[in-house]
Amino acid sequence: MPIITCIDDLQRLAKRRVPRMFYDYADSGSWTESTYRANQDDFSALKLRQRVMVDISQRSLRSTLLGRSYRMPVALAPIGLAGMQYPDGEIHAARAAETFGVPFTLSTMSICSIEDVAANTTQPFWFQLYMMRDRDYIARLIKRAEAARCSALVLTADLQILGQRHKDVRNGLTVPPRLTLENLIDLATKWHWCLGMLRTRRRTFGNIAGHVKEASNLDSLSAWTAAQFDPSLSWDDVAWIKARWGGKLIIKGIMEPEDAGAAIDAGADAIIVSNHGGRQLDGAPSSIRALPAIVAAVGHRTEVYMDGGIRSGQDVLKAIALGAKAVFIGRAFLYGLGAMGEKGVTTCLDLIHRELDITLALCGLRNIRQVSEKVLWSERPGDP
Ligand SMILES: Cc1cc2nc3c(=O)[nH]c(=O)nc-3n(C[C@H](O)[C@H](O)[C@H](O)COP(=O)(O)O)c2cc1C
Repeated sequence: MPIITCIDDLQRLAKRRVPRMFYDYADSGSWTESTYRANQDDFSALKLRQRVMVDISQRSLRSTLLGRSYRMPVALAPIGLAGMQYPDGEIHAARAAETFGVPFTLSTMSICSIEDVAANTTQPFWFQLYMMRDRDYIARLIKRAEAARCSALVLTADLQILGQRHKDVRNGLTVPPRLTLENLIDLATKWHWCLGMLRTRRRTFGNIAGHVKEASNLDSLSAWTAAQFDPSLSWDDVAWIKARWGGKLIIKGIMEPEDAGAAIDAGADAIIVSNHGGRQLDGAPSSIRALPAIVAAVGHRTEVYMDGGIRSGQDVLKAIALGAKAVFIGRAFLYGLGAMGEKGVTTCLDLIHRELDITLALCGLRNIRQVSEKVLWSERPGDP
């Protein structure tokens, strides 16, 4: 077993173990991938202040999100097709999150259904909603999330139409993969994945198959998204959702202070500053760059979370320093999942927790609540 020291190690292992079509689906952004790259690069550009001679023997990363206490301010982001990275992937990830003590968010486009995940976990998880044209189906989906005791609904606002990811087009992404010669050659080297897939019955979109009338073209994700996702979604629809969902509502995909204000006016309990991991509007700034203006505008009115580019505990600390109440991790846990299932997701969370804890200490702080912009090195003239 290779020694895992960081998320990059998990990524390398995932690349070896996950069929190329699904690995590429994860490791890609839209068009030139400039926003995808910026999400990580802009974290690296932020520098930390080293502080010394402070008693750092007692430390805490515990954080409260929407009234519940978690082990650190990190949640697992919703990821479509996670059950194609690893057989029964959503169940593995949800279990790892539950045991570790952080929230897990199940995507509408998951392979394991809401009911599957609920039956295999004990703690409530969060459910991410994509709005579709078939409102009857969406109303039933919301009821299913409620029946499964999901404790928050995450409405994704930035994917009513799909940004093109070149690799998915080239690979002809389908679920399950079509047995072309190219795919068969690739699958021959991924026998662990193949065996797992043969053993499970969960090989299509669990929340959709059998629940939507026109689910015939489900295997082609891009065609299905284009046909089913509702491009007319607007702020007015939030009232429709709230009339059916009585619990906490989080709106994901906010990149502008004006939209953040609109989300709160529409009734969101929290927002996620996100550019969908650089998979939608290529050319948008990184999420970490967009965060401070949004926190300045609405941070006093709501909980502001962020995602995009988090690959380490240091990145988490930097996001908290710039005003995020918590962060979501997407690819970081997905690589862990592809590499080793539940164990890989746990490894990812352990790595991030340890690095966040040590970085906090090396910045001379004891409690994550003490983190502010002061931990960031500023090269503005006149700064001490
Ligand atoms: C493979 C993949 C699938 C995703 N699927 C969804 C999804 O179904 N719903 C959603 O709201 N966001 C989805 N996202 C976006 C993530 O929730 C999150 O915003 C993004 O991954 C954060 O960036 P990071 O991967 O750099 O952490 C997906 C991201 C990836 C990489």
